[in-house]
Amino acid sequence: MHRSDSPHPDSPPCASRREALRLCGGALAGLASGLCTPAFANDDPAGARPQAGDRLVLADGEGQRAPLRLADIEAGAKPLMALPLDAASGTVRDGSRLNKLLLLRLDPASLEPSAARNAADGVVAFSAVCTHQGCNITEFSTEKGLLLCFCHFSQFRPAAGGERVAGPAPRRLPMLPLKLEGDVLVVADGFTSRPGATL
Ligand code: FES
Repeated sequence: MHRSDSPHPDSPPCASRREALRLCGGALAGLASGLCTPAFANDDPAGARPQAGDRLVLADGEGQRAPLRLADIEAGAKPLMALPLDAASGTVRDGSRLNKLLLLRLDPASLEPSAARNAADGVVAFSAVCTHQGCNITEFSTEKGLLLCFCHFSQFRPAAGGERVAGPAPRRLPMLPLKLEGDVLVVADGFTSRPGATL
């Protein structure tokens, strides 16, 4: 049974109670509406947002949770769905759909500065959740170099840091900055902006 006093696990995180006030127009109103998850409710590493030092694993890699390496991401191929892995605890951060990621490997020479500074040898990671109403983004046009949301046809350009180029989404897709440690893909920092639907 749904508990109205329990924030939905996919609700957007609030960095602090002050942030909850700002984003929700009042902490009580925000929590009651389930629009915000306070930071103190997000201690579970599985539900926490990706952090610097996390590794990446395939989202559908049942039993295959080996950290992804550069060679695992095929250049020019369709995006892989991935999840962050807390390296310290070995926990896959699969407790929130807002942690779903799309991984692509693009030509480094094609990246605009907004994408290049968060890429690892052409590999870029984006939130897989559309910034319009939160549908999963599942398609990629290799011809146009665009990620496509089929709910209301928003389009995003990964080579331009997830810039929205068409459709009703009001903002770009958040990037997850990456780096390489040897040939292992490692999260370099948190999302560049809040993942999820725009409230
Ligand atoms: S949810 Fe993606 S365009 Fe509406």
